[in-house]
Amino acid sequence: MADGSDEDKRVIPGPRPAARLGNLKDIKPKAHLSWTEWCAEYGPVCRVDLGPLGDSVLLGNFDVIRKAFEDNSDAFSARFVLPIAEKDGTRGTMTWENNEVFDKRRELLTTVMKQVDIEKLARNEATAICEVLNKNKDSSSDLVYRLMEEANLNMISTFCFRREQRCPYDDPNFCELKKRIGEMNKKLKNLMAEPANLFPVLWVFYFGFRRARKNLRCLVGKELETHKETLDATSVRDLMDGYLTKAGGIEFPAEECLANIMNLMGATITLKNTFQWLLLLITKHPEVQTKIQDEVTSVFGDDTPTMANVDKLPYTNATIYETLRFACPATQFVPHATQADAKFEGYDIKKDTVVFANIWGPHRDAKYWDEPEKFNPDRFLDSEGKLDLNKESYIPFGLGKRRCPGETYAKNAMFIFLANIYQRYGFQAVAGETLPDVADGVINIGLHNPPPYNLKIVVR
Ligand code: HEM
Repeated sequence: MADGSDEDKRVIPGPRPAARLGNLKDIKPKAHLSWTEWCAEYGPVCRVDLGPLGDSVLLGNFDVIRKAFEDNSDAFSARFVLPIAEKDGTRGTMTWENNEVFDKRRELLTTVMKQVDIEKLARNEATAICEVLNKNKDSSSDLVYRLMEEANLNMISTFCFRREQRCPYDDPNFCELKKRIGEMNKKLKNLMAEPANLFPVLWVFYFGFRRARKNLRCLVGKELETHKETLDATSVRDLMDGYLTKAGGIEFPAEECLANIMNLMGATITLKNTFQWLLLLITKHPEVQTKIQDEVTSVFGDDTPTMANVDKLPYTNATIYETLRFACPATQFVPHATQADAKFEGYDIKKDTVVFANIWGPHRDAKYWDEPEKFNPDRFLDSEGKLDLNKESYIPFGLGKRRCPGETYAKNAMFIFLANIYQRYGFQAVAGETLPDVADGVINIGLHNPPPYNLKIVVR
């Protein structure tokens, strides 16, 4: 039995591993539930044996995640490159790379995000969403659920390679892109738990995935050729232009531009999931829906909602922040790795150890949140009804060097979509059907999303 001395603390506690497979068989499909249970039992720094991948370290509360990713950022900011990502080719992708030009790649993205009018992209998309809702105003189906996927994909592809000109949803180019992405995602259900991560020889059986990815690369590659032919170096209107004009300060090979764009289309699935959670949770709480509608109407009337008035809609914003806490779309994070030997919380952690951060834990930590299991946007408002973001234990976009570079893009899109939609529409559960709860969430491509649901559209 450990007596708490420094000597005893050197072995990181964790669930007992089985021979060969370690704790792999004990990890639930919703890994964050296992992480939360283990951290409650063994403490906020736990060891989880990943069998062929070796020991990993699991960080389970805000304090240790902040210490690792912010205070010890140099040691904890590498990415653990999943074997499946490595096979697929990580070169050039922001999510998976750990090299000396990583900062430049991030700089390129953030520079282009400042040059492109993200708000306009979101507004155009929101207008298109409202047109579809209007044409289908008698619908009681999964239309809204599907529409959020299309809108998200359309917005990121417009940002990446359509020079601010979105495609209509029925445009053959958009339909083909959607088909290609769908084919690829269907073949890769759970990024982390794919068998080829544990036994890389199984990669030979991922033929369908490789073919789908090649098709997508070919499609995006054609856009790059068109960009090269029509480049106007004085005006960067999308990420491809940014690559071609060296907006990050250095030149990246064309192949890396394609890889990063395909990677970004994956990274934004978190935003699609958040849209789907938002509409679901708002519909499940009619009083929240009414407050959002009233707020949007009182500020904008019939005028088009813009970011200029974002501060005047505290309740709408509070609902977005509460959804990110409560549904935790990025719950499993992409794993980090140590890039040097580290001494952390009294433990010796070796270089190249996989590090998981469980944001589900901090977002439901009763030490920081009253009734954490309750969906309650009011917790993000102060006593005067103003937005209060001064919260600890709240890290939906991560922390430190690997913090999400799409945060502003995502916040703009969420606000503009919600304000535009609820200005004119509301939603109800379909008679006789029960809407899913957050407990019904599923893990898809390593992210937490609601299962498909139907909604009845209500015109205001
Ligand atoms: C509500 C929507 C979103 C949420 C909750 C979210 C959350 C996160 C989280 C938690 C991480 C991991 C941070 C870490 O490992 O320390 C991440 C990484 C990342 N996100 Fe997002 N994200 C969202 C939307 C977006 C969007 C819209 C984009 C792009 C336009 C984006 C691009 C990325 C990229 C490229 C990374 C990897 C960064 C790196 O490895 O350095 N995300 N995101």
